[in-house]
Amino acid sequence: MTNLSLTAKSIGFEHIHSIPLHEINDRVMRGEIVVMPKCLQAMGYFERLKEATLEAICQAVGEAKAAQVRSKGFEAIHEIINLDELVAISNSSYDVIRSLAPGLSKAVVKEIFQRKQPFYFEESPNVRFHIPYDVVVERKKEFSQFHWNGKVTAHGPHHDSWYQCPTNCVNIWIAIGSVKIGNGLSIYPQVYGKRLPCTEDGKILRDQYFGSVLNFDLEPGDALIFHGEHLHSSELNSTDATRYVVSLRMTLEKPKFLGQSPYKSNYIYSETNDGLAAACNQVSAKISRRFIKQLDSHLNRSETPNYVISALDISIFDNTSADFPKPPLVKTVEGTSQDKTKLIIDSTELAIGTIKPVSQTMCVARVDENRVVAFSRHCPHEGADLAGGYLRDGCVVCPWHNLPLNIETGASPCKSLSQLKVFDCVESDGTVEIQG
Ligand code: FES
Ligand SMILES: [Fe+2]
Repeated sequence: MTNLSLTAKSIGFEHIHSIPLHEINDRVMRGEIVVMPKCLQAMGYFERLKEATLEAICQAVGEAKAAQVRSKGFEAIHEIINLDELVAISNSSYDVIRSLAPGLSKAVVKEIFQRKQPFYFEESPNVRFHIPYDVVVERKKEFSQFHWNGKVTAHGPHHDSWYQCPTNCVNIWIAIGSVKIGNGLSIYPQVYGKRLPCTEDGKILRDQYFGSVLNFDLEPGDALIFHGEHLHSSELNSTDATRYVVSLRMTLEKPKFLGQSPYKSNYIYSETNDGLAAACNQVSAKISRRFIKQLDSHLNRSETPNYVISALDISIFDNTSADFPKPPLVKTVEGTSQDKTKLIIDSTELAIGTIKPVSQTMCVARVDENRVVAFSRHCPHEGADLAGGYLRDGCVVCPWHNLPLNIETGASPCKSLSQLKVFDCVESDGTVEIQG
């Protein structure tokens, strides 16, 4: 038995404080984000999940490789397992983790949420081995099933309900290996309460602005608990370590689905044991597009979103974009055949720490009182609009997968990506001049 006890901390931009366990579920459903250090160890589940995964790896790729993973850690998986084998170990880990889901979910409700009531849990937890991005690019040819994007590489900003999850689900995101800034999860609390629009296949639109980002450094066994309607994304793995995470989703109330997607999501009622009753109690998101339209028309989309809201009342969500940074007044001076086009902006338009778009392809940012920089609006990874990013330690950080790009050199920690284009930029006598 373990001597560790369960503890929980509510985390925000300006606070970290301890909270009682019995308040976790209600607080999470109002938008708070909770971290529980060594949660799996305190529940007595850490070794079970770790050993089950090693057993799954052994079944998929043999004893020798499983032994190497045991000695070097899950963080070294990409050094031991080739990319095709990664699909095999992911599949077999899914199978074993799925078999542990009923017991683990029950323990979460009883020990973490301190509730005795029945609940619904997702039949198959998510099992993710996110390998370093440079390794994916370098060995992409050997990876015959590259549609596994998202399972092994970064997932863009999304609400879980875009992928057939209930709007009232709690996400319990558990580090089995260590999670570092640079291969973890981003949550965008400033747009909590909005359900942002996406493409048909669940991709965020380029003109959406999400505000500041929360990122987390987690030790093996730590759990991050948040409402699945928080906009969140994976960081592009710019570290040299594979990130291994298992995430469970559950609802204490009946799951509320908004629509359907290509992803299957079955929720099991905890009081159901097996057989026909199980089939009857599975709630899956088989709701037609027509239904979504009807539902949308009944929502009051113009309501002002609050930061903390009741997730059970979906009618107060809205789907409008948060305010994307507006361009300043820009004077364009067309170049001659020798000269390039110049963009001229009044210095007072650029406050310290802000990024503004100045054309379809370029943005400008003031780093400090004496320094203004200009760079491409298009992230070299998947083209996110960097005018919606933020500045940190001499870098512009991409809003989609939290990748830092150096504003002097355009380089990022992912060597396989092309460098961000930077432009000459001079400030004098109250104006900023950019060579286009
Ligand atoms: S890091 Fe992915 S689009 Fe920028
Ligand atoms: Fe998600």
